[in-house]
Amino acid sequence: MSVTALIVAAGSGQRLGGGLPKQFRPIAGKPMVRWAAEALRSHPRIDAVRIVIGEDHRALAEAAFSGLDVGPMILGGAERSDSVRNGLEQIGDGLVLVHDAARPFCPPGVVDALLAKLDDHDGAVPVLPVSDTIAQGDQTLTGHVDRSRLLRVQTPQAFHVEDLLFAYEEAGRSAATDESSVMVAAGLKVATVEGDVLLDKITTPADFERAEAILSARLLPRTGMGFDVHAFAGDGPVMLGGIAIPSPRGLAGHSDADVVLHAITDALLGAASLGDIGEHFPPSDARWAGASSEIFLSHAAGLIRAGGGIIDHIDCTIICEEPKVGPHRSTMRTRIAEILELGEAQVSIKATTTEGLGFTGRREGIAAQALASIRMGFGQ
Ligand code: CTP
Ligand code: MG
Repeated sequence: MSVTALIVAAGSGQRLGGGLPKQFRPIAGKPMVRWAAEALRSHPRIDAVRIVIGEDHRALAEAAFSGLDVGPMILGGAERSDSVRNGLEQIGDGLVLVHDAARPFCPPGVVDALLAKLDDHDGAVPVLPVSDTIAQGDQTLTGHVDRSRLLRVQTPQAFHVEDLLFAYEEAGRSAATDESSVMVAAGLKVATVEGDVLLDKITTPADFERAEAILSARLLPRTGMGFDVHAFAGDGPVMLGGIAIPSPRGLAGHSDADVVLHAITDALLGAASLGDIGEHFPPSDARWAGASSEIFLSHAAGLIRAGGGIIDHIDCTIICEEPKVGPHRSTMRTRIAEILELGEAQVSIKATTTEGLGFTGRREGIAAQALASIRMGFGQ
């Protein structure tokens, strides 16, 4: 039987606050809902992923799912249950996994366990025991609830599509917060499987911070190196580290010939295993003739962030006899930090001569070496 994952992402995220609806807010560089969509899309038992979004979020959704096979967007309704119903109407028969966009991590084992239960149950949901004491009251407590019989119910929740449609019909207009409640109310049999704290819903700012911490703990330190040389030719100034330095001679190059930004760009691309600057910006492409190398650098940084990575530190050594780098070092550092959206402490610029030896010693050109330290997951 075919399995469709239906992700409901049509809420407005009032409790999290902060402008952008929570499901489109980036967590480690990726919109929250894309984490869930990618996890479900890559599960071998799932045939299709469909997303329910709010009317006003079409443009956000288009950007969030670019390049991901999630079919046309389905429009949601005022309540979560309306959004689920709209989604169910658009998918065919078979099995459905209804999932909240606000739960970005979806361990594949939970999906396997849920689908296995559907052989002899009408539905299956992941649950966890309640570990805190549960009480009633407001300013003062009025009583306590026996927690030993309580369960926290998460998503994804698995059902036969026709059973869930029937249960929702029985429920009439209800503001149920999940499918298991309408299924049980309709007298259907819902099995439990062991949930996972990774599936906890992101509702408040504290939940959001926890999700970011979970993801950054999964990132691994990675290092990239970059090296570049440009020969002196023509008139100055020289573009070095994103600033123009007065010099009687300029540097030859297809773009603005900024060796420092080129070396750092290659170091970043190297750390992310994303090829080199020539691959991304071929010298044969007329668009890059005389281009500001800032474009190359911010593109490399953008690729790392889009892949959920974090740039920790850049160290660069400029090798030349002239121009003197010392007086410009601090401005260069500020500029590079600005382009990379980093703090100045995360950028180091050093300079050396080669004691008159070699092409730099003969003042034929300028060389630069850079190391980039980043954190990024593999397989992203
Ligand atoms: N949802 C939906 N349609 C709605 C309301 C909610 O698709 N009309 C989705 C949300 O996008 C979320 C999931 O249902 O993925 C769980 O809802 P909740 O955590 O309450 O999200 P929001 O309603 O967006 O947040 P809030 O209640 O704080 O406004
Ligand atoms: Mg809500």
